[in-house]
Amino acid sequence: MGDVIMDATKNLVNNDFADIMLNRHSYRKFKSDVKISREEISEMLEEATTAPSACNLQSWHFVVCDNAEGKEKAHSVMMPFNYPQTDSSSVVIFILGDTQSHYKYRDVWNKACDNGQITPEERDKVFKTFLPLYEHADRQFLEKDATIDGGIIAMQLMLIARAHGYEANPMSGYNFDQVAPTFGLDGERFIPVTAIAIGKPDGDYTKSVRYPVNEITDFM
Ligand SMILES: Cc1cc2nc3c(=O)[nH]c(=O)nc-3n(C[C@H](O)[C@H](O)[C@H](O)COP(=O)(O)O)c2cc1C
Repeated sequence: MGDVIMDATKNLVNNDFADIMLNRHSYRKFKSDVKISREEISEMLEEATTAPSACNLQSWHFVVCDNAEGKEKAHSVMMPFNYPQTDSSSVVIFILGDTQSHYKYRDVWNKACDNGQITPEERDKVFKTFLPLYEHADRQFLEKDATIDGGIIAMQLMLIARAHGYEANPMSGYNFDQVAPTFGLDGERFIPVTAIAIGKPDGDYTKSVRYPVNEITDFM
């Protein structure tokens, strides 16, 4: 598996890429007696963090709600149409964007340099090129950047969940302003991107349609 950063395959029950991607659907009711261990949740998150991010800033943060207390908090911010999947899923994972990820940006590149993955000159070039972009960025830029990173890892997490034999439902139908205070996070720093309910489905999914590619694509 190339230079993958972890022993990731232990709980992968499905390694069929076409099936994982093309047969993914939003399930909105789960078997509420199914528990996913924190070890496996952490594995899924670690696998998800192989996602790309702008300048490798990894501007994401997770809040995992997998017990009664966490589920109650998740429920309290949700819009009512998301109660069934929130309450019945094994876990709801909120993905937040970290607008201050550049504060520790040096660490990741120093580590790559220490590992011999890049030279000190390459590292310093990264610092000179990208750090000023973020240090001088306005709020809108930082929020957008963190939202894109969060969206990309959210998709990866949904696919990883399928590879572990679960189904998922992304949810943005919740009170965004309540998320940080409810989970005791700094709302200036962390902005909600989406929440993902994961579990073993109870019942079927609702079939959805897509626009034809020629309606949504311009070839230049
Ligand atoms: C950013 C985002 C937010 C979503 N929010 C919700 C939500 O709050 N509640 C819900 O039931 N589904 C939500 N969905 C799921 C969509 O309704 C679903 O992906 C779409 O209808 C296509 O169906 P499919 O996922 O089965 O392919 C969301 C999906 C995305 C990507």
